[in-house]
Amino acid sequence: MLKDIESILIPQDKVQQRIREIAKQIEADYKGKTLTMICILRGASVFFCDLVREINLDVRFEFMSVSSYGAGTTTTGEVRINKDINTTLEGKNVIVVEDIIDSGCTLAFLKKMLEQRNPASLKICTLLDKPSRRKVEFKGDYVGFEIEDKFVVGCGLDYAERYRNLKDVCVLKPSVYTK
Ligand code: IMP
Ligand code: MG
Repeated sequence: MLKDIESILIPQDKVQQRIREIAKQIEADYKGKTLTMICILRGASVFFCDLVREINLDVRFEFMSVSSYGAGTTTTGEVRINKDINTTLEGKNVIVVEDIIDSGCTLAFLKKMLEQRNPASLKICTLLDKPSRRKVEFKGDYVGFEIEDKFVVGCGLDYAERYRNLKDVCVLKPSVYTK
């Protein structure tokens, strides 16, 4: 697996430190409130588990699965809901937790869809953000790191379902996905 890695972009300790900072910010913003956090499977799973354990609030977990990508490295622009949540979001304080904002298509679609369920508030938290790649305008409310236009894996992010378990955010060798 490591032979496919070009470089480490964000080492594990930096990721963990940033996660603690975001958690403190969320704690301050939602003080005294109950929070529903929606993990977008599968990419956000690792970030989600680290993040929720740093938040000292009444946090409820939900899981959704959406797909936009297939096995390639560029979006198809089309978003499919593979698994929805089955609890109501009406009147709840909701934070959607995602691995990365790339074209913005996935979250723009998802945010619009979830807003129709009348949550009290709806915010987006993402570990990574590639602002230079946007196809639709979209801004995350809590962003771990803005990164340049490189395909990354690890900390939950995959290429064709591989490398999710790498501890660091790593740049994949282009030869892996161009061959
Ligand atoms: P968007 O709809 O283009 O914003 O795409 C979001 C999804 O694309 C993410 O949830 C990831 O699954 C995937 N993605 C985008 N960039 C990367 C990357 O650099 N590495 C791994 N997955 C990525
Ligand atoms: Mg993915």
